[in-house]
Amino acid sequence: MESQLTIRPYEKRDRGACRDLWRELTERHREIYEDASIGGEDPGAQFDAYEKRRNLAGIWVAELDGQVAGMAGLLAEGEQGEIEPVVVRAPVRGRGIGSALLQRLENEAQQRGIQYLSVRPVARNDRAMVCFHRAGFRQLGHIEMFRTLGEGPKGRWKPGVRLHGCDFRY
Ligand SMILES: CC(C)(COP(=O)(O)OP(=O)(O)OC[C@H]1O[C@@H](n2cnc3c(N)ncnc32)[C@H](O)[C@@H]1OP(=O)(O)O)[C@@H](O)C(=O)NCCC(=O)NCCS
Repeated sequence: MESQLTIRPYEKRDRGACRDLWRELTERHREIYEDASIGGEDPGAQFDAYEKRRNLAGIWVAELDGQVAGMAGLLAEGEQGEIEPVVVRAPVRGRGIGSALLQRLENEAQQRGIQYLSVRPVARNDRAMVCFHRAGFRQLGHIEMFRTLGEGPKGRWKPGVRLHGCDFRY
């Protein structure tokens, strides 16, 4: 039987599933930075604060065969929109669910008169960047440049990004 995918607005009954998805988002960051302390003790609880954000225009969930399999949120401020977060449950990644969520958020942003829609993955999140690039995010806005002060964790930052003739670690 073919799987049934639906993208629908978030409802209060989805809170538990969305907290779990937030935890999975944190796990992805823990994995790529090899740092289990990212996100603190209860990363899922951050969803509660997120839900109260003043500029939150909406949250949509992806339902696969009746189960929440992903979510995406739209933050809006005038003509500017930002997709934050977008996350799909690990076992069903790579099946088009993230792309379907991005497509829905693009439509929602258009209906709200948003002119610039952005998404801000960490530079190390290659899979997410490939997914966003495929979905049409092909212009770069602000770049966050930073330096570590003091000792900091050794060997954490990988070499390999070059922009305007400058080498960066990421
Ligand atoms: C980023 C994310 C939301 C994409 O959702 P998804 O359902 O896996 O994405 P799709 O199936 O629509 O994939 C779109 C493309 O992204 C790339 N991609 C997605 N998952 C991938 C994976 N596991 N490995 C390699 N490439 C992958 C592929 O290019 C894929 O194209 P394909 O259809 O040819 O395979 C999902 O991987 C995820 O939840 N990641 C963890 C949380 C996260 O990093 N969120 C983004 C924070 S900014």
